[in-house]
Amino acid sequence: MDLTTNFNGLYLANPLMPASGPLVGDADKLAFMVNEGCGAIVTKTISTILPHIPKPCIYGDREYVMNSELWSEYPYQKWVNDFLPAFWQTKDRPLIISVGYTKADMEILIPLLDRFADAFEVSTHYVGTDLKVIADTVKTIRSHTTKPIYMKISPHLPDPEGFAKAISDAGANGVVAVNSLGPTMKIDLNNRNIVYGNDAGFVWTSGPVIKNLALATVYKIKKAMPSLTVIGVGGISKAEDVIEFLLAGASATQMLSGALLKGKNLFSKIIQDLPLVLEKYGFSSIEDVKQTPLKNAVSYEPYIPILNPEKCTKCQLCVRICPYFAIELKEHITFDKDKCFSCGLCISKCPSQALK
Ligand SMILES: Cc1cc2nc3c(=O)[nH]c(=O)nc-3n(C[C@H](O)[C@H](O)[C@H](O)COP(=O)(O)O)c2cc1C
Repeated sequence: MDLTTNFNGLYLANPLMPASGPLVGDADKLAFMVNEGCGAIVTKTISTILPHIPKPCIYGDREYVMNSELWSEYPYQKWVNDFLPAFWQTKDRPLIISVGYTKADMEILIPLLDRFADAFEVSTHYVGTDLKVIADTVKTIRSHTTKPIYMKISPHLPDPEGFAKAISDAGANGVVAVNSLGPTMKIDLNNRNIVYGNDAGFVWTSGPVIKNLALATVYKIKKAMPSLTVIGVGGISKAEDVIEFLLAGASATQMLSGALLKGKNLFSKIIQDLPLVLEKYGFSSIEDVKQTPLKNAVSYEPYIPILNPEKCTKCQLCVRICPYFAIELKEHITFDKDKCFSCGLCISKCPSQALK
């Protein structure tokens, strides 16, 4: 099965890379991601000043991660003199260097990092929402490099389409969508305090709970600016998720929180699973997924769910959750046609897929 994907002159053996974060924070971690088989490697965000990071700073729940981590804890000189030369000794796949944040930072960082980078990813997480400021940052980066520039969008940026247009006009090649969501909050009920948070008491949320937001952002940007490359990130934790992002318009994907929640070998597992999952859904390659138009099958026609009695375990979850009080257990599960609103909740929640 052909898992390759290419865009802006970058050739990836498969469409999964690590997202910028603690798993790509030094040379050994970059090497770990190579061993996992990632199609390209992304670095932790490098900046000109050292971050002051509260401890603890990463909270993991079942479906989400919350963090108050910031950018790389190492000075940019360490990256330039140590981590990046070490990575380049055996470099065999694209390296995307994540940088932040201001124009002034870019004036210092891009000339020093350019020889190591196949592309730049630029965090806009802490620079506000002014698109002119972001566009000016792109222009500054462009004045120092010919490499692809991918601007990373944060969910608190209100206008993804406007963001895409502004950065494209300024000379960027694409968008990485999305950064973590927030500000959000973690309350420790036992101790009546906030343990995880920044000075204002806030954290950023990532992982499976933000996947649907990330998918919509990828889709919006690709629709508004088809010429831009989109790299999809947010909530990926299985091969199916990667395929969904490609269908929404991404050329490749990144993951972090999935691996923080399920283990660091999730990268190799997803890459290993991709051929079987592609085959299961009738795709012949990653390129095939990228070429497949996503149809909008939204309908306004009412329908009544159909029960497969052989699959139904009579658990009555559908009865308990139906917002229209239309489901009852008699001999079998039955639907009151006059009450049923065709909302679909019962079908999506049925644990034995007995409804369609
Ligand atoms: C602990 C942690 C640290 C992160 N650090 C960075 C960072 O330095 N630069 C950046 O652009 N994004 C950073 N992110 C955001 C991730 O790269 C990613 O965009 C986000 O977590 C959504 O993807 P996920 O759900 O797969 O984690 C961080 C996320 C987490 C959870």
